[in-house]
Order: sequence, then C-alpha cells, then structure tokens
Amino acid sequence: MSERRPKGWPARATIVEVGLRDGLQAERASLPTATKLALAEQLLAAGLRHLEVTSFVSPKAVPQLADAAELLAALPRRPGVELSALVPNAKGAERAVAAKVDAMVVFLSASESHNKKNLNRPIEQSLADIAEVTMIAEAARIPVHAAISVCFGCPFEGEVPLSRVLEIAEELAMLGIRHLSIADTTGMATPPLVRERVEALRQALPGVRLALHFHNTRGIGLCNVMVGLDCGIDRFESSIGGMGGCPFAPGATGNICTEDLVYLLHECGVETGIDLEALIAAAKAAEAAVGHPLPGQVMKAGPRLKLHPLEAVRTAAG
Ligand code: COA
Ligand code: ZN
Repeated sequence: MSERRPKGWPARATIVEVGLRDGLQAERASLPTATKLALAEQLLAAGLRHLEVTSFVSPKAVPQLADAAELLAALPRRPGVELSALVPNAKGAERAVAAKVDAMVVFLSASESHNKKNLNRPIEQSLADIAEVTMIAEAARIPVHAAISVCFGCPFEGEVPLSRVLEIAEELAMLGIRHLSIADTTGMATPPLVRERVEALRQALPGVRLALHFHNTRGIGLCNVMVGLDCGIDRFESSIGGMGGCPFAPGATGNICTEDLVYLLHECGVETGIDLEALIAAAKAAEAAVGHPLPGQVMKAGPRLKLHPLEAVRTAAG
C-alpha cells in the first residue's frame, strides 16, 4: 500500500466528520434527535473517531441544532472518540460544559462581512467572546479547537488577504489554540491558494496543528485536499454523503464528502482506520434520513473493484 503513496504525504490522516453539524444545519427540516443518534452510531461503527456533532449556538440562528444538549446526553462515550461542538460565546460554552462535550470549537470569519452575517458582530468582538470561551473551557478542562471561516475568499467581499488570515490565526494562537481548522465555507479555495495559505500558516505558527475544511461548491474540493496532503496536512473535515453548507453564506453547498475522501486516501495509500463499505452504508442512511439525494459519488458507484454480474447489463448487439 505505502508504495502508492506520493512522496511527502502523511501515512495516516485523521478525518473529522462534520455532517451532523455542518450537514444538518443546512437542511431545511430538523431531524429528530433519535435519527441523529442512529447516524452517529453508524459513523462510529465505520471507524470514525472525531465527530463534530452539533453547535451550542443560538437556537434562533440554527434551529436544526437546538437539541445539542439532548444529543450529547444520548451519545455513547468511548475511549479514543472525540465528540466536539461549535461554541460561539460564553453562553454556548456554559451549555457545552453542562453537556460534557469532549472539545469545543470556537469560530469566526476572516472577513468582517461574513463574521457579521454569521455571528452578528465584528471580528474584534468575536475574538473577545472566544477569549471568554477559552477561560470557561480551561476551568472545565475541556480542550478548545478553532476554525476560521472564509479563509480562501468571501461571498460578500471577494478575495480575503492572506495577511488577514494570518493575523486572526496568530490572535487565536495567543489565546492558546493549538488545533486550527482553515475553512473554505463557500468553495472558493483553489490549489494555488491552498498551497500559499497552508505554507504561510505553517511557517508563522509551527506549534499549531492545522486541519483543512473544504466545500465542494465548485467541484474541486478533493483537488484541494490533495494539495493539502502535498503540504503535509493530515487532518481533514468532511461530511457524510457530502451534506452541508452555511446558512449564512449565499450559494454555500455541501462539504467534501467523507466516503469520497476516504476512497481517495485509501487508493493513495493513506490510512484512515475507516471501513469504506460501512461508511457507504452510513451515507445511504443519511440520504434516507434527510429525504433527498446527496451529492456523494462513491456511495452511488461503490468501491473501485465492486464487480457486477455479466448478466446484469444487456449486451449491445443487433
Ligand atoms: N446558545 C443559546 N442561546 C444563545 C446563545 C448560545 N450560545 N448566545 C446567545 N443566545 C441567546 C441569548 O440568550 C438571547 O436570547 P433572548 O433573545 O431570549 O434574550 C439571544 O440569543 C440573543 O443574544 P445575543 O447575545 O444578542 O446574540 P445575537 O443575536 O447577537 O447572536 C450569536 C449572536 C453568536 C448567538 C448568533 O449569531 C449565533 O448563534 N450564530 C451562530 C451561527 C452559526 O452557527 N452558523 C453556522 C456555523 S458556520
Ligand atoms: Zn463548512
């Protein structure tokens, strides 16, 4: 297997499944907590060890995730499994502590316009809110990860300067963040931009572990993953079946698809610890749960060597 792996790529990658959060926040209908729970169980059974399961945000802003506390209370806790949730402010942090989340994910945007749409405040205020969250989390001994949205372009402002992404990442590092997700909320990342931004962030913040969060809005999500791997990144966020999208960004569509990503990684000799067939079954369950077709492709075609009986297809003759 390893001889297939391109030079410089990591031998193993961690996948953070964000379907229950990024995926379901984009669905018109709210799924029952029991359906979310069943899906989470299936994802864990497939071998995923990092699930971003919900958000402790305002239920008025994201009603689909209003059951965050109930869901966390019902989810199984297993050694080696990390159940994380988005937390925007002190109120969210207190709710997350009460729900005994394994990790909080603070978030803000690299553009003022998207931050105002998504969090109803300027970036400066969000940084102050994040400082409060980190204090609450520290007192409760809960790790805090961070995510920066619209790092590769903003649907309201266009290009986002690299210097802005670096400044915000540095502010987060000063607040003690050691796990940072660089997010492409509306699929504006391109291979050259990924290389530029990942290299600059790695150089500026060698002590911070980076993850990449891509959306497949313009069809090149997995190309961007390959550039990330080339730069040595070994942590990616994706969503089962390719569900997803930010309700506060126009045209935002699905995340890169977990089973398509796992297929790519395995075929390139990168281990994930995940069972692709079990993941495909979970993607089909997710599709049934949301009640409309999902964009994932491997869930439709099956693994590469899935063979079909000869008699299943007619012969073109006559
Ligand atoms: N959890 C639950 N309720 C919350 C909350 C939280 N974390 N933060 C604020 N609220 C409640 C307040 O108690 C208040 O309730 P009330 O109207 O009953 O008094 C109300 O929400 C408004 O509070 P305020 O602090 O003024 O918030 P806001 O209206 O300026 O909204 C956020 C700020 C951050 C709470 C909101 O923009 C938000 O939840 N954004 C998240 C969006 C998101 O998840 N996007 C997708 C991820 S990319
Ligand atoms: Zn996203």
